[in-house]
Amino acid sequence: MITAGISAILPFFVFLSLSLPPPSLSLSFLPWFIPRFHFGLDPGHEDRFSIYVHASKQKPVHVSPLFIGKDIRSDKVAWGKISMVDAEKRLLANALQDADNQHFVLLSESCIPLHNFDYVYSYLMETNISFVDCFEDPGPHGTGRFSQRMLPEIEKKDWRKGAQWFSIKRQHAVLILVDSLYYTKFKLYCMEGRNCYADEHYLPTLFNMVDPTGIANWSVTHVDWSEGKWHPKSYRARDVTFELLKNITSIDESVHVSSDAKFLTCSFQYNSANMMDRLIH
Ligand SMILES: *[C@@H]1O[C@H](CO)[C@@H](O)[C@H](O)[C@H]1NC(C)=O
Ligand SMILES: *[C@@H]1O[C@H](CO)[C@@H](O)[C@H](O)[C@H]1NC(C)=O
Ligand SMILES: *[C@@H]1O[C@H](CO)[C@@H](O)[C@H](O)[C@H]1NC(C)=O
Repeated sequence: MITAGISAILPFFVFLSLSLPPPSLSLSFLPWFIPRFHFGLDPGHEDRFSIYVHASKQKPVHVSPLFIGKDIRSDKVAWGKISMVDAEKRLLANALQDADNQHFVLLSESCIPLHNFDYVYSYLMETNISFVDCFEDPGPHGTGRFSQRMLPEIEKKDWRKGAQWFSIKRQHAVLILVDSLYYTKFKLYCMEGRNCYADEHYLPTLFNMVDPTGIANWSVTHVDWSEGKWHPKSYRARDVTFELLKNITSIDESVHVSSDAKFLTCSFQYNSANMMDRLIH
């Protein structure tokens, strides 16, 4: 599960939809990476999730047999462009066709599970909110990207930022598909040429306006932006140790790095009674 927008350089989207009951299953994206934590491929138990893959037509990279035959009709996706949001909508439209799909998780091939499937499944299915990252960044890479041309539908005070990697309830998936008002504003006025990246702002702003209490304001994926660069901290194979994963798994706050020097970071505690299962990117 991927984040704060920029990580969207990845070549494809994987979409996992969780559906109602039967027992244990697991999913593994990079099992050779972290054998201790791997979800375990368990093809006998696929009745609790379905996978939808939006992959590049040129080079589909299927690292798991679970992905084979799961490709949806894809289109070109360019980093920072509205086509990123279009790919997300395409995935949602496909996944919504199955009425059993209740919760929709956007992942990339760089996501590594930090908890086993049962834990993730219960955590996401038992909560009544969506995990959409959403915060106010008063700096140039936050509110600074707002365009007056979005008025009057979207006001500067409504503008939000957040990681692209969402995990949402069915009613929110429907909401994203039916919205054309705000989507059109972003399509027209949030562009790379304006230093505006729709995948970092559209969903946080939309939910902040239409259902602010229906989202957690943080994402179930962990990303480390503390280096203050354009891309979050990257982990190479040799960095990925049991200790690193243990450290990341135990993080219990979401840190939002603002682009305004006066408000460097703001963070808040997760509800510790309900300890998170995050996935690292
Ligand atoms: C989720 O459930 C809690 C506790 O039952 C409730 O207070 C809250 O209003 C619910 N939120 C939504 C968005 O349904
Ligand atoms: C998310 O933020 C909005 C507004 O900033 C707030 O109304 C909402 O309660 C927050 N969600 C949670 C789960 O705290
Ligand atoms: C894990 O956390 C401990 C305590 O904060 C720290 O000393 C250590 O360097 C961390 N290890 C890794 C691999 O991040």
